[in-house]
Amino acid sequence: MRNAFISGVGGHVPPRVVTNDDLVADYGVETSDEWIQKRTGIQSRRFAEAGVGNADLALPAAQKAIAQAGIKAADLDMIVYATLSPDHCFPGSGVLLAEKLGLCEGAGASFTPAMDIRNQCSGFVYGLGTASSMVKSGACEHVLVVGSEVHSAALDLSGRGRTVSSLFGDGAGAAVVSATDEDRGIQYWKCGADGRYAHVLAQKIWDISKRPFIPQDGDGNGIVAPEMMFANMDGRTVFRHAVERMCFAVISACTASGITGDDVDLYLFHQANMRINQYVAKQLGVPEHKLIHNIDRYGNTTAATIPLLMAEAVETGRLKPGMTVACVAFGSGFTWGSALVRW
Ligand SMILES: CC(C)(COP(=O)(O)OP(=O)(O)OC[C@H]1O[C@@H](n2cnc3c(N)ncnc32)[C@H](O)[C@@H]1OP(=O)(O)O)[C@@H](O)C(=O)NCCC(=O)NCCS
Repeated sequence: MRNAFISGVGGHVPPRVVTNDDLVADYGVETSDEWIQKRTGIQSRRFAEAGVGNADLALPAAQKAIAQAGIKAADLDMIVYATLSPDHCFPGSGVLLAEKLGLCEGAGASFTPAMDIRNQCSGFVYGLGTASSMVKSGACEHVLVVGSEVHSAALDLSGRGRTVSSLFGDGAGAAVVSATDEDRGIQYWKCGADGRYAHVLAQKIWDISKRPFIPQDGDGNGIVAPEMMFANMDGRTVFRHAVERMCFAVISACTASGITGDDVDLYLFHQANMRINQYVAKQLGVPEHKLIHNIDRYGNTTAATIPLLMAEAVETGRLKPGMTVACVAFGSGFTWGSALVRW
């Protein structure tokens, strides 16, 4: 039977470490290390320098994943690129990455198709599911799934925006999903969405129903008010739904696959808030030794959290062939998703 397995993973974070104290001292955010750590578990995050775009950050992660898969970039049949902070409104960052990977020039140009997924924190799980289906159907041999975010450019670092700006950081992760006849790989995936809560966590920037879509001054310059320019969030509603949806997504994945939580060797939870993950782990009875985190060091890197966890877990030997891995994510939309992977 044709299966889809993860043949390579890679992660990349920008070098600049921004601690909670740095947010106060260097950026003037009205917060404190104590407030952020107590409510979120975040100690620091990474911020990319000005001039670094989303696909720039994704490139080293993608290259590592491709090398670990033992293939060349030109062997990819598709790029699925998950982000909520794309380089531009359009075209998507997937085509920018394809160009950076050298897929669009020279005798061996493959002109690999690239598509962006706009599903925020669950974007990588949506991408993994899409890649798995493309490979299992026989349409593709190798699909690169990317989760990459440059949040630092779009954070409201004033007192008004501190609830959101203290949570997010920059980073990128990637995985190659490849075909195999072995009994391993992505055994199950399922995603969900509830658009009734679309306004609860959103960065609107413009309203396409308005004429013009961004208000203009007399000289034709666009004017974007801060409440439109930056993300807005009702944190408590997000928290409550995240716990419920993530628990349900893990239970559904196990039930549908005929296993119990005890059969899972490693849980890769989306890293939005350490407290959310502690609640979910407690509800599911997941012991601490089956969890790994990076929120303490990277903050919430949205689409990049799970591939970054994967890359680190492989590198440190926590994730080994034969292990059963449960991935689960929840985010703006609301959207969510889970996947069970036999590594
Ligand atoms: C964001 C979150 C940490 C806020 O915690 P909370 O206990 O709900 O806090 P509230 O938003 O009710 O704010 C409580 C107070 O802290 C203040 N506050 C908010 N952010 C702050 C910060 N970074 N530093 C200091 N004070 C802050 C608020 O202004 C408010 O002050 P007030 O009582 O004087 O009005 C929490 O709701 C959360 O983690 N939600 C989930 C968010 C998430 O995961 N988002 C990503 C989803 S993928």
